[in-house]
Amino acid sequence: MGRFDRRRGYLVMICALALGLVAAPSLTANAAPVRAPLFSPGAPGAGDPYFPDMGNGGYDVSHYDIRLAFDPRTKAISATTTIVARATQNLSRFDLDFLGPLKISKLSVNGRDAAFARSGAQELVITPRHGLWRGSTFLVSVTYAGVPQKIDDPALGLSGWVATKDGAVALNQPIGAATYYPVNDTTGDKATYTQTVTVPTGLTVLANGEPGPTTKHNGRTTFRWQMNQPMASELAMLAIGRYNVTRSATADGRPNITAIGRSIDTKPGQGQVFNRTTAQIVQWESSMYGRYPFDSTGGIHADVGVHYALETQGRPVYDQRTSKVSGDLLAHELGHQWFGDSLTPVHWSDIWLNEGFATYSEWLYQEKFNGVPVQQSFAETYANEKDWSGKVADPGRDQIFDDLVYNRGAMTLHALRLKIGDRAFFQVLRQWPTTYRHGNVSTQTFIRFVERLTHRDLDTFFQTWLYQPGKPSL
Ligand code: TRP
Ligand code: ZN
Repeated sequence: MGRFDRRRGYLVMICALALGLVAAPSLTANAAPVRAPLFSPGAPGAGDPYFPDMGNGGYDVSHYDIRLAFDPRTKAISATTTIVARATQNLSRFDLDFLGPLKISKLSVNGRDAAFARSGAQELVITPRHGLWRGSTFLVSVTYAGVPQKIDDPALGLSGWVATKDGAVALNQPIGAATYYPVNDTTGDKATYTQTVTVPTGLTVLANGEPGPTTKHNGRTTFRWQMNQPMASELAMLAIGRYNVTRSATADGRPNITAIGRSIDTKPGQGQVFNRTTAQIVQWESSMYGRYPFDSTGGIHADVGVHYALETQGRPVYDQRTSKVSGDLLAHELGHQWFGDSLTPVHWSDIWLNEGFATYSEWLYQEKFNGVPVQQSFAETYANEKDWSGKVADPGRDQIFDDLVYNRGAMTLHALRLKIGDRAFFQVLRQWPTTYRHGNVSTQTFIRFVERLTHRDLDTFFQTWLYQPGKPSL
């Protein structure tokens, strides 16, 4: 199905289900008495040991349609999020993740009001009038309002909906998405997205993917953005505020949309440089990692105050109050488009598959553009690293953003390169993201992939570098 057909398909389905034209199969009165219940609740978590409450079981989301209005005076949103999903079991009820003080005023399943309750910190438990048959597609529509609250986790920092001086920025890694929309918040359930955001005229809205038409009405402007490739909720992004936007295209013709917050102290021409460098790096990385995975690229240089950059899909966010975004940071976040965004680990313990490759992208950038050999970056990191105590491929919930994951992740890749040689290694860099494009991966998948490609048994090598604490000898 073409991208356009699929989008229209959703629209037709949304209308049909809302009108009640599609009869949901239900238990009939004359069904034979059953002992085991025919329908059962979906699991409240997706099985990540680090984040047991994140995600849910029993269904698979294919599309999120988020429509929200933002009032910068009160910082409040009012929103309706509609989710298209398919049941993977016979469901009597199911959960979505939804966090914080937003109040739900209406919730329907397949166009009919459904019972719901908030449970624990992040479970929204939904009981439709009728059970949902395994394999059937259903629509959940949730209307809610309030002032979203960001997450401030001692180990993971700030995430979710972050209010800024002139608007808000939503950054969802790893647990922020549920602060502003009901979501199956697991990397294992990617979906396409439409984000439609209404703000007072004068403010700009940026998000993942392709811009749609902008409409003005009664002093308010509505922006629409569409992500047509599967996206994990941790990589969804919204930026509302005063921005200078630069549009161009990459050499292979993809739209390249970048924006710099107006409050940021920039030098003349910095918007052009940011835009051009982004396109160049995407092009260069495509030459190593294979075809770029999304329809457009870009980036947002914003003053958010979270103190990190994030590889939000198709359009990373660089949180910096001043100066320009450095080339190696661009190479890192854009490298993530292949490693992390297109290929996404199912479990957070495998985040080295994102950060190791993204850090290696910085080393490759340093070699290509600044004449610093990768071998030198490796040697310096190997010599200077103080903490060798953790396990890269299972660092622990509070350590997923530790230097260990980034540095030892990249060192593992370089050690692999020294072991299998440049030819095989650059094949890995290209074939790994090509083979698992837009999918989910794990460390085990990676090890098996490299072993198959090289026809070598590398279990001991990976055991030493990924799972054994302590400094590996060379
Ligand atoms: N994953 C981000 C990157 O490497 C960085 C990041 C996101 C981060 N959240 C964080 C770093 C929290 C430290 C703390 O591009
Ligand atoms: Zn990173």
